[in-house]
Amino acid sequence: MADVERETRANAAGESDIFSPVRLGALDLANRIVMAPMTRDRAGPEDEPTPIMVDYYRQRASAGLIVTEGTQPSPAGKGYWRTPGIHSEAQVEGWRAVADAVHGGGGRIVMQLMHTGRASVRANKHPDAETIAPSAILCPDKIPGPDGVPQETEMPRALETGEIAGVIGEYVTAARNARRAGIDGVELHCASGYLPMQFLSSNSNQRNDRYGGSVENRIRFVVETLEALAAAIGPGRVGFRICPGVTLNGMADADPHETYAALLKAVDGLGLAYVHLIHIPLPGQDALELVRANWSGPVIENCGLTLEKARAVLAEGKADAVSFGYAFIANPDLVERFRTGAALAKADRKSFYTGDGDDRRGYTDYPALGV
Ligand SMILES: Cc1cc2nc3c(=O)[nH]c(=O)nc-3n(C[C@H](O)[C@H](O)[C@H](O)COP(=O)(O)O)c2cc1C
Repeated sequence: MADVERETRANAAGESDIFSPVRLGALDLANRIVMAPMTRDRAGPEDEPTPIMVDYYRQRASAGLIVTEGTQPSPAGKGYWRTPGIHSEAQVEGWRAVADAVHGGGGRIVMQLMHTGRASVRANKHPDAETIAPSAILCPDKIPGPDGVPQETEMPRALETGEIAGVIGEYVTAARNARRAGIDGVELHCASGYLPMQFLSSNSNQRNDRYGGSVENRIRFVVETLEALAAAIGPGRVGFRICPGVTLNGMADADPHETYAALLKAVDGLGLAYVHLIHIPLPGQDALELVRANWSGPVIENCGLTLEKARAVLAEGKADAVSFGYAFIANPDLVERFRTGAALAKADRKSFYTGDGDDRRGYTDYPALGV
């Protein structure tokens, strides 16, 4: 694994043009342009990927890597309306069609595993599914319900110490299911105030067992989950996403620098595929510098990038790949538009999470150039 990492760094230092191939762990990308994970709320009644989701991902297969929308590893992990899962056979079959379509277009695809923990609206989930978290502390932010109107979240039940291995086991089964479906790897969603971040942040984790209190204890859930995922599907097929200092969904960490430096150091030796950074301003230290000071593996940089900014980050050797969210919504052929210098289409925000009666609207109906 160390050889792979050295090779990736060598790529970054030398031939680092945005259109050049790169290897992230076991993932060979045709270019360094990554489609960022985006929840689009268009899954079927059993939380299964639908045929239009297959079309959507197929249209975007020229990205060097697609990270899927957040996908729940278990019914309890679902907090939003119509997000897909990867815990039933129907879901595995749906994802197989997505993976085949992306591979058919020459792309690579990893699945973002998103367990929302306490960031969860009761009406969005199966009646039997619980809302769980490290501590019984309410998520103060409202979350859209089935009608799209923001609602109060549900008070979570604090996990017993003995239950935590089971939650990690659900992630492992989900990752195995993703691989069975032909998906190339998984990305553990540790940002945006969801379950892993609820463990990391000092305000949402008030536990007094080995999963709470000290920094070493607060990072333990994420470290153990990444170790378990790596053991199950191979470290080179596992990435993770962080956003140090984000306050979304009621996050307030007393010292994000300390927390994330400790986390990155703890998992640096695992030989994981990448860390995916949502790079927002962090008082006192730049988050990308924080990553680079504590992590020697591949880095995907994200948030508010333009082609110029992305090229500069790559040219400086600060990241191995760059991801774009918003730009991929209205530009299925974003890579080609970057290559040719064509203008970018603007996405319609109203259809981010609904097609208003027609799921295809604002989803699969953005044309590629010349179509
Ligand atoms: C509609 C929409 C849905 C998103 N859903 C997710 C998600 O499921 N998981 C995640 O990690 N980030 C999610 N994000 C954040 C994006 O992955 C990305 O970090 C953000 O859009 C910033 O990148 P950009 O400036 O290139 O758009 C979402 C963003 C948008 C616009």
